[in-house]
Amino acid sequence: MIKTIATAPIDGQKPGTSGLRKKVPVFQAPHYVANFVQSIFDSLEGFKGETLVVGGDGRYFNREAIQIVLRMAAANGFGRIVVGQGGILSTPAASNLIRALKAFGGIVLSASHNPGGPDGDFGIKYNIGNGGPAPEKITDAVFARTKTIDRYLTLDTPDLDLDAVGTTSLGGATVEIVDPVTAYAALMEKLFDFAAIRTLFASGFTMRFDAMSAVTGPYATEILERRLGAAPGTVLNGTPLPDFGGHHPDPNLVHAKHLLDLAFSKDAPDLCAASDGDGDRNLVIGRGQFVTPSDSLALLAANAHLAPGYARGIAGIARSMPTSGAADRVAEKLGVTCYETPTGWKFFGNLLDAGLATICGEESAGTGSDHVREKDGLWAVLLWLNILAARRESVRDIVRQHWATYGRNYYSRHDYEEVASEGANAMMADLRKALPTLPGRRFGDLVVAAADDFAYHDPVDGSDSKAQGIRVLFEGGSRIVFRLSGTGTAGATVRIYIERFEPDPAKHDRDPQDALADLITIAGDISGLARHTGRTAPTVIT
Ligand code: G1P
Ligand code: ZN
Repeated sequence: MIKTIATAPIDGQKPGTSGLRKKVPVFQAPHYVANFVQSIFDSLEGFKGETLVVGGDGRYFNREAIQIVLRMAAANGFGRIVVGQGGILSTPAASNLIRALKAFGGIVLSASHNPGGPDGDFGIKYNIGNGGPAPEKITDAVFARTKTIDRYLTLDTPDLDLDAVGTTSLGGATVEIVDPVTAYAALMEKLFDFAAIRTLFASGFTMRFDAMSAVTGPYATEILERRLGAAPGTVLNGTPLPDFGGHHPDPNLVHAKHLLDLAFSKDAPDLCAASDGDGDRNLVIGRGQFVTPSDSLALLAANAHLAPGYARGIAGIARSMPTSGAADRVAEKLGVTCYETPTGWKFFGNLLDAGLATICGEESAGTGSDHVREKDGLWAVLLWLNILAARRESVRDIVRQHWATYGRNYYSRHDYEEVASEGANAMMADLRKALPTLPGRRFGDLVVAAADDFAYHDPVDGSDSKAQGIRVLFEGGSRIVFRLSGTGTAGATVRIYIERFEPDPAKHDRDPQDALADLITIAGDISGLARHTGRTAPTVIT
């Protein structure tokens, strides 16, 4: 029996393409999840009888939210709902399942790398039939709908057992509970040379993969330990916990510092890696060699042909604007285009769909390819393993050789978090005003070659995105980028990205903060950061 429940709009529901993210208690308020989910369904057309994929990163409230989504999806007319067992699906695995099943779309429950638990974060995101995040046209419609919604449709049925693999019926729909790993692992086996990686592990290669008590545990255990023969214990924190064990499931150098320490210790394994809450980000550190995400993108693109899935070469590379230019140098050598897009994974979707780019990445630890339409943490780690298995050199040697061949793009991002919005906005406004005065200006031996506010013209759908960040480009390839975060929750987050290109291999051994010191000072001078924000030091340096 379909029930129509009267409801009223709830304030403040603004979904981005990474979905709606709020504190758990907000989602627990009566009708809140239902209002948002109905607003999604009300913004879609033509899904009667179609397939919907549902799953999440296992965080607190995941199971409760999934029960609500299942009843509503059935009540709204979906014909088949496919759910990961236990309510688990990593974001890239959900993307794959949507594509593999030719589903109409999917609902992913996640707040990515944000902490979980009763006081942590929760999120709901809608992905379309290509497996990627809903475009702005849809998220705008959903937002508009949340402001006018007055009813939602659901069923009066008991909770389903999410742990039993199999098919049941729910109202007029069938619900299939599937193993969350099977289809994803099969895709990885198609892309990578598992036999070669097995031989690598059998030869004594050692690794630690920290799943951070988040969603990648089951995926990493099945793929690395069971299928590839990595030693038991290779996967750390492999059981998804509702509160991620109280940790912050963000594989950066702050929250995964223990891996960095391990990688530089005398007991360092050959490879250390980690992924975030929902499995789309990655961290890769070789023995004694951290690999920046920007370098990783360039290295993966340069070596992708060593993996069967990319043996025919890559069509192009795409990177977000603030990501370093290391990938551009690889693209040039390969004779393919490197697309420069605004920040955010959604801009890669069109390029991947159109076959213009094969590999894409962001400086914020997201790397991926056309195999799904999300970034993919474990995929990046497996591509690294495939390259290591093929080359039989250390991560450190591979990185060093890469720099010797292409030059090194010293790179760092300085974040100033929870800055008062007025100051941050004034700083950006002043920078925009100053743009015409910058070209030709000399700072020590650095001369500004060009400066602009980054704009992107999508070559596929012709759309334009303006004001995506201030770029100050210096002669010789150095660069400073200023932008405000679009994902922060409190005040504004100022991000300053600093990059210096160093062609000379004799100068590739410097500490990045030292190598960038003069540019960091220039960034402060040009922006008046201290004056506008009262800050003299970044909150986070990556
Ligand atoms: C940040 C990252 C960006 C990433 C996004 C979602 O956005 O910088 O690369 O796509 O999170 O994971 P920002 O806060 O900078 O707007
Ligand atoms: Zn994530």
